[in-house]
Amino acid sequence: MRIIENVGEMQRQADAWRAEGEKISFVPTMGFLHEGHLSLLRSARTLGSKSVVSIFVNPTQFGPTEDFASYPRDVGKDLELSGKTGTDAAFVPAAAEMYPDGFQTFVEVTRVTKNLCGASRPIFFRGVATVVSKLFHAVKPHVAVFGQKDFQQLVAIRRMVKDLNMDVEIVGHPIVREKDGLAMSSRNTYLLGEERLVALRLHRSLEVARELVGSGEKNGGAILQAVNDCLTAGGGAAVDYARLCDTDTIEEVEVVEGPTLLALAVWVGKTRLIDNCVLGG
Ligand code: PAF
Repeated sequence: MRIIENVGEMQRQADAWRAEGEKISFVPTMGFLHEGHLSLLRSARTLGSKSVVSIFVNPTQFGPTEDFASYPRDVGKDLELSGKTGTDAAFVPAAAEMYPDGFQTFVEVTRVTKNLCGASRPIFFRGVATVVSKLFHAVKPHVAVFGQKDFQQLVAIRRMVKDLNMDVEIVGHPIVREKDGLAMSSRNTYLLGEERLVALRLHRSLEVARELVGSGEKNGGAILQAVNDCLTAGGGAAVDYARLCDTDTIEEVEVVEGPTLLALAVWVGKTRLIDNCVLGG
């Protein structure tokens, strides 16, 4: 696997591949790769003839009180793991390469980012849209794969690509879970002792909602009450949000009619976890 640290070099490699008729698939990550990422990388390999992973902890998507400094990092292991998937190149830029002195241009997706994580993390989506645009300009992919665990992020990226006429296909990849149901996340490493058990309530509460909808419940209030009860029973979890939303606009809905996003963000100790499912599909 080729390791590239420089934007110009990445662009030259992408141009060379394109000139040879190769199809470039791309998985952007912030590293500390787990099985969820590796499954995106394996999927990317089937979608293109040359695949690229980026490993970059993007400072512009973290708020001043968030975990940028402590975000888990292990680039050596990331390179080893992504190399084993057969990925052709890893783009691993330094912060100064992505945001040189004088940087002042940002990409903002305005409406689908208002609710959910956008309400709790006001600069998050601006940082994500900006870095993903920059990564697309560096890697020049034909297709890019994003995990559905970050459902709102996926919707925002699709919107950005459409609105800015970016010539890249966006593919969503199903959430990858641990055997006990916990959605895989680099932040799971923060969970201490009992917190790991408390964290399982996110998946359990999605199941509770699915069961309710399966038995005919459509009332959003009743579904969210059951979800909140499941999340908070036994203590140890603080719900940031549990909401039902339209899957395209991310606006809240009161009745589950057709595919409806149930999105969760929950603090377990000092760790904020997200999870979701689509109900009524
Ligand atoms: O989902 C992530 O890991 C990040 O938000 C992304 C898309 C790599 C941008 O930094």
